[in-house]
Amino acid sequence: MQHLFRIAFTGFLAASLMAQHAKDEEAAKHPFMNDADRIEAGRKAYLGGCAGCHGPEGGGGRGPSLIERGAWHPMTDENLYFTIQKGVGIMPAANLSEDRGWELAAFVRSLTAPAAEVKAPGDPALGQALFSSGAACSNCHRIAGKGGLSGPDLSNIGRTSTLPKLRRSILDPDYEYTPGFQPASLVLRNGDKLSGLVKDRTNYVLQLQLKDGMLRSIPVDTIESMELKNSTIMPLDYKTRLSSDDIINLVSFLRLQGAAPSTTSAK
Ligand code: HEC
Ligand code: HEC
Repeated sequence: MQHLFRIAFTGFLAASLMAQHAKDEEAAKHPFMNDADRIEAGRKAYLGGCAGCHGPEGGGGRGPSLIERGAWHPMTDENLYFTIQKGVGIMPAANLSEDRGWELAAFVRSLTAPAAEVKAPGDPALGQALFSSGAACSNCHRIAGKGGLSGPDLSNIGRTSTLPKLRRSILDPDYEYTPGFQPASLVLRNGDKLSGLVKDRTNYVLQLQLKDGMLRSIPVDTIESMELKNSTIMPLDYKTRLSSDDIINLVSFLRLQGAAPSTTSAK
């Protein structure tokens, strides 16, 4: 039940993000809003003056998370700019130069925009090499029909994710799960033991994806016991195994997956 709710909720969120995005695009944009250098300058200013309350990666702390759009009011670029400059509640006014204020607004906005739309540092070719051989991500993940099936298909991940979420997916894979990838171990009434990923579940049937990728429908009344694991099968040690440049290159490759042709060219 909770599982179904999550899927429905994710769909709703995606739809409202898209609606918001269409609205955002109608208004004329401040020239800094999609300028990689200005966003980078904003990131540095953020680390100095904002990270203490909103977290180094924007995940929140004394102040709300800035990477989950649902956690703060979606606002126009102007409102974002003025919130930063003038403060809100216990948040102090930043009172910066106009340029610095817009750099911060551009950085904060980049945290919730689809990754494909925000220019990012890094070398996508090196990222692709890591993805398919160095870090072996493609053992589990498929892009454009190539790769494994035990993780989500990432062919469109640049449109459905944001830069901070891509980073977090690699550095802290247990932070949130993609529906359809919860590992489970089952014992059936006939004594058979099965393990795999729970793809779907109704009151009558459970769909399990076995290690070899085969889907098996298991009538619920044949299940003796089931253990759902609250941990992803994605390796948890990339943050120590990969260098920070590796992570940046991987993200720069992933963000291009699903990008419209006009924005796929690397910086
Ligand atoms: C002293 C802690 C603190 C600092 C420093 C701080 N903030 Fe905040 N920020 C908050 C709190 C608390 C809120 C929620 C305020 C409220 O809604 O009453 C907030 C809200 C926000 C919001 C969302 C407002 C909304 O209505 O949803 C944005 C955007 C934001 N801060 C950006 C920044 C930026 C950029 C900086 C650095 C220039 C910064 N903050 C510095 C504590 C802080
Ligand atoms: C052993 C299999 C496995 C390997 C290897 C693996 N992943 Fe994953 N990955 C998963 C699974 C399963 C999920 C879904 C569950 C979750 O969200 O943790 C996932 C989730 C993700 C997501 C989030 C997808 C979404 O829909 O939001 C991203 C991005 C990702 N992985 C990237 C990578 C990258 C990059 C690598 C290599 C550095 C990698 N993965 C290696 C299994 C794997």
